[in-house]
Amino acid sequence: MSNNNRGEWSSRIGFIMAAIGSAIGLGNIWRFPYTVASNGGGAFLIPYLIALLTAGIPILILEFGLGHKIRSSAPGVFGKLNKKWKILGWWQTAIAFAITVYYIMVIAWAFGYLINSFTLAWGNDPKAFLFGDYLKLSSSPLHIGGLNFTVLIPLVIVWGINYIVLSFGIKDGIEKASKIFMPLLIISLLIMVVRGLTLPGAAKGLEYFFKPDFVKLLDARVWVAAYGQIFYSLSIAFGIMLAYSSYLPKDSDIVNNAFITGLGNSSFSLLSGIAVFAILGYMAQSQGVDVKDVASAGVGLAFIVFPKAINALPGMNVLFGVIFFSSLLFAGLSSSISIIETVVAAIIDNFNITRKKAINYVVLIGGLVSLIFATGAGLYILDIADHYINNYGVALSGLIEIIILAWFYNLESVREYVNPLSDFKIGNWWNFTIKYLTPAILGIMTILNIIQDIKNPYEGYSLSAIGLYGAGFVLATVVLAKIFDKLSD
Ligand code: ALA
Repeated sequence: MSNNNRGEWSSRIGFIMAAIGSAIGLGNIWRFPYTVASNGGGAFLIPYLIALLTAGIPILILEFGLGHKIRSSAPGVFGKLNKKWKILGWWQTAIAFAITVYYIMVIAWAFGYLINSFTLAWGNDPKAFLFGDYLKLSSSPLHIGGLNFTVLIPLVIVWGINYIVLSFGIKDGIEKASKIFMPLLIISLLIMVVRGLTLPGAAKGLEYFFKPDFVKLLDARVWVAAYGQIFYSLSIAFGIMLAYSSYLPKDSDIVNNAFITGLGNSSFSLLSGIAVFAILGYMAQSQGVDVKDVASAGVGLAFIVFPKAINALPGMNVLFGVIFFSSLLFAGLSSSISIIETVVAAIIDNFNITRKKAINYVVLIGGLVSLIFATGAGLYILDIADHYINNYGVALSGLIEIIILAWFYNLESVREYVNPLSDFKIGNWWNFTIKYLTPAILGIMTILNIIQDIKNPYEGYSLSAIGLYGAGFVLATVVLAKIFDKLSD
């Protein structure tokens, strides 16, 4: 193992900015608002906060603590605890790689739309523009079609930005970039909140967003959605926070940093929910329809509904478009940088190569794999891969991580390690959540996901498409993990 190439954060604020930057991503802007609205509105905030306090922050403390103590990326951390567990670290690294290759594509779409905002290129029919002119969507996931140069160019640019930031290392690259992206992102969000709240109809949108439907709390799927959102959003269980905390100087706080990261991320999500639904409320009112008729998530929200909302604004449409898509770009970049860094760190820690070489390999191979998402079937493939990687990669590797750490390792030693370092101490409640609560909920979550996916194949895609891009994609991460585990023996 060579640690010569490992960097270090230069300040506490630098680390916090980078960790929050990793957490705040596309998940906060396009996933969170709709997840709230479709899972009980205001009532969803109860399971969401419980998930944050019982799983999100406790696991952040666990990952920050282990990363800091062992000062290695995921394979090194798990391998140090038990040689047999190293493969879990490689699996999380492979999952990070898998997420990277499609996450970058979405950022590239946001970048393309940022440029399109200057001319409002989507015209009067943003849906036709997205699927036709922009994505050149093929007829089905198995009809790949050729490479689409409209999205290929932004894809190359976004890879290039990630490459440059990572090349400058931890302190001069990631930390500096986070200190630029995060304030810009927060300013853009605040402008969107103010603009949203001052539009007529905003109250209608907020009512839809917040109005509690307490009956929904009896539905297990709502709790599953809350825990799923927390895992994805806090970037836990795919190696990122282990790698980031391994760059903390020796005398660093752990518990408080985890609380700041967790609470900062959720505050951002809430604010972005307010901005999104205030604007949707305005749009619904101006079209004379219900908010639920205009609300949507993911690609539909960002690239169809928002362009429509931008068209409908009473003035400064271009400026607003630029601000919205810039915020997606900044949020996405600070997350993609962290996901790629996870892979780079694992390679550096386990093979005797320089940081530069590791970045070259990861970006070159990642870039080639991501080309599949720049084809006519890219959107379908991305949709399926994302669903399967989240439900069976992140959730399952999280479950295994928690089980081995809580039941086959001395969890108490982590608490004893982090408490003296931290501004405030964690009590026994922490052991309880990690040992019992989180594994139980993650276990139920995985079973419910499996039942759901067997009963109704995701989004009605054909079984061959799901087998290839969903199950196949997840299987590929397992095979990669096995290969790297052997190579790094
Ligand atoms: N945590 C990142 C996001 O929310 C992956 O997008």
